[in-house]
Amino acid sequence: MIDSNVTRAGAVLTIDLDALCDNWRLLRRQAEGAECAAVVKADAYGLGAERVAPALYRAGCRSFFVAHLTEGIHLRAVLPDQTAMIYVLHGPHPGSERDFVRSRLVPVLNSLPQVKAWQTLAQWEDGVLPAVLQVDTGMARLGLSEDEFASLIAHPALLEGLALQFVMSHLVSAEAQHDPVNRRQLARFEAALAQLPGMRGSLANSSGIFLGGEYHFGLVRPGAALYGVAPVAGQANPMRPVIRLQGKVLQTRRVDAGTAVGYGHSWMACRPSRLATVAVGYADGYLRSLSNRGLARYEDVPLPLVGKVSMDTIIVDVTDVPEARIVEGAFVDLADPINGVDAVAERAGTIGYEILTSLGRRYARQYIEGGRIQPD
Ligand SMILES: Cc1ncc(COP(=O)(O)O)c(C=O)c1O
Repeated sequence: MIDSNVTRAGAVLTIDLDALCDNWRLLRRQAEGAECAAVVKADAYGLGAERVAPALYRAGCRSFFVAHLTEGIHLRAVLPDQTAMIYVLHGPHPGSERDFVRSRLVPVLNSLPQVKAWQTLAQWEDGVLPAVLQVDTGMARLGLSEDEFASLIAHPALLEGLALQFVMSHLVSAEAQHDPVNRRQLARFEAALAQLPGMRGSLANSSGIFLGGEYHFGLVRPGAALYGVAPVAGQANPMRPVIRLQGKVLQTRRVDAGTAVGYGHSWMACRPSRLATVAVGYADGYLRSLSNRGLARYEDVPLPLVGKVSMDTIIVDVTDVPEARIVEGAFVDLADPINGVDAVAERAGTIGYEILTSLGRRYARQYIEGGRIQPD
């Protein structure tokens, strides 16, 4: 760690693009026969779309999903190939349609008004514009309801001018493999697709890929598993870990048994202890719910987080590490291949997705690609 950003920063976030691309390849194999896209919304789940998307492109990925139009515009600027497909899940807001055409973005049309607005624009443009149609099969979030979809099918003129790339829907509970809602959604999705013979479908997110071949259709849309989050609840995680977060020790102190620590004195030493203050806090996305619950590590020694998470610091109990090892400027691991994103999430009472997308901007970021560490 000789990079000056690393020297200056209170914490270092290392993002392993090699592992991330291996994860994409594993998902592609798992969904063999379908195209494997990549969901890179929310700045590639907090890991940096500018670095993640081109790396996935180099691995062979040609279709990317973002949520917002602005994310799509940024992504178009960083992908090396203008023909790579960028799908925008939120679809076009009224008045934004021409921005899609300018950046060659394909909207996911989620409502009849979006279908009509896109069709109107198609009439002005070349006469045909690419689009994706989303149908709601049980999430009640985005997409045409059953009735709206039926009315679309009853009025095929509504689809004129739209080069539909595929029809998609989103699973509610795919990580819980035995939840009966998965099969209900599958049946609804198959019924919708049957109304458009020959149309490609897309239903599976990361977890959906592991529900089996019936869920794969023509294209799968993994996000979280690319970034190392476990796709199947209660089963061993087949994905490679992608992030390592190391926090820098600012200060160490010895405290007597009975010493209370941090805001609100929510923790008290029950033995003479040595504590280390680390330069990461909730302003960095290290969630406050980890107060008295988080776990750091030094090599293989677990370091319990004691007291409340503050805005810029946490305090960990380093009593069990030889004193000479943890000194000012030393690094402790806050998330790493052993203490992974899912484990941190569980202790914080949330999901790995939230841990990743909360990762702060104060961390010195470095990327591993081709086996080499490169600064951001
Ligand atoms: C519509 C849609 N498809 C795919 C994904 C990717 O899901 P996951 O991160 O669970 O793989 C998301 C993420 O929320 C989504 O909203």
